[in-house]
Amino acid sequence: MKRIRIEGGHKLEGTIHISGAKNSAVALVPASLLSDEKVTIDNIPNISDIDALNEILTYLGATVTRDGSIMTIDSSSVVNKGIPEEISKKLRASYYFMSSLLGKYKHVEMYFPGGCAIGARPIDQTLKGYRALGATVIEDGNKYTIDAEELIGSEVYLDMPSVGATINTMLVAVKAKGKTVIENAAKEPEIVNVATFLNNMGAKITGAGTSTIRITGVKRLGSCFTEVIPDRIETGTYIIAGALMGNRLRIENVIPEHVDSLIGKLREMGIPLEEEEDAIVVSCCEKMNKIHVKTQGYPGFATDLQQPLTTLLTQCTGQSVLEETIYENRFQNVPYLNEMGANIKINGKTITIIGPSKLVGKTVVATDLRAGACLVLAGLKAEGETVIENVEHVLRGYENIIEKLTNVGAKIELEEI
Ligand code: EPU
Repeated sequence: MKRIRIEGGHKLEGTIHISGAKNSAVALVPASLLSDEKVTIDNIPNISDIDALNEILTYLGATVTRDGSIMTIDSSSVVNKGIPEEISKKLRASYYFMSSLLGKYKHVEMYFPGGCAIGARPIDQTLKGYRALGATVIEDGNKYTIDAEELIGSEVYLDMPSVGATINTMLVAVKAKGKTVIENAAKEPEIVNVATFLNNMGAKITGAGTSTIRITGVKRLGSCFTEVIPDRIETGTYIIAGALMGNRLRIENVIPEHVDSLIGKLREMGIPLEEEEDAIVVSCCEKMNKIHVKTQGYPGFATDLQQPLTTLLTQCTGQSVLEETIYENRFQNVPYLNEMGANIKINGKTITIIGPSKLVGKTVVATDLRAGACLVLAGLKAEGETVIENVEHVLRGYENIIEKLTNVGAKIELEEI
């Protein structure tokens, strides 16, 4: 078990360099299996989710080398065997392997994927995509056995713009015969990153980043090089840290357009922000205005930034409102913020935050990745010492968080218990 200890109240100054996006990298790594040759991916973040995917690659027989942020995957000796439940339940992204293996071998056996406990997170849209492309899906409890004599391109309408179902359908459709059209596709930048990677291998995908993606299947995918885009959620988390405690905190290696919705909200709050070509400079301010935020798919306000933003809203004057529209259980951070002195009420899918509140250090628990990030931010602001337990969740998604925050002036350490 690991915990983070923070002495709050220290200003953050200097530069934080953003790593590769977790939610892109966790799709690119399984997508690499579709290639018949060696692929190289740069800017892979050093987070435990990538270690878990590596375990699956190695289990399947791929040859993986890592040199800093560069990962090379040679799947020419992969054997298509069932992925055990203990491995697949370690993270949500394990189900991208299900699609790569189905696309390549037309048969796959796998278990329901894991991921943060923030809602039910069904996979019905992914299964609908498989079926539309001609696969037969047999569900036996948590286990899925999926077969296709032939994968044939088709029209797939997603009932909601699911990131996972969009990527999964692309991964299968690139190897299907003929043309697939995904309607109501998710538009997240991570989807564009995956489509670019597949196109670099020789796939024929157009429209990624819009709600209609067209894919013409190909017989073979080859070697390629690609780079993971900067993590927009890590970017947003550190921008919020700067809004709480920053003295011209500079966040670099970012794509500012990817965090437009956050920047817009912070400007409404009155927070001073400067945008550079690939950096954002942010400072805290005396008085922040209350706001109303609603989470939405990209380019709307990201659900993954909702919990980190809540910490900042405790410092606004008046009553802020935050509506979570994507997940049904993403307020597990709220009781802990209240223990630290916040005044937040949960009402179904909405929370109201009355501020400003003085936050005081306490011992709290990271229930999931972004709840953990929210509590780290609260610890940076709070008076006294905050101890966050169960921080394995945080380390799943934030590369070198301790070093990055220490380098800009935070008093934060990781302890093994
Ligand atoms: N949904 C269904 N059926 C499906 C698929 C989704 O009902 O078949 C629902 C989900 O239950 C959820 C909504 O649709 O209510 C959106 O789910 P989506 O499929 O878009 O999410 P995901 O692919 O499971 C990814 C990220 C999440 C991020 C969401 C939304 C990865 C590995 N995870 O999840 O990231 O919150 O997209 O942007 O890419 C995180 O990083 O903390 C995280 C949870």
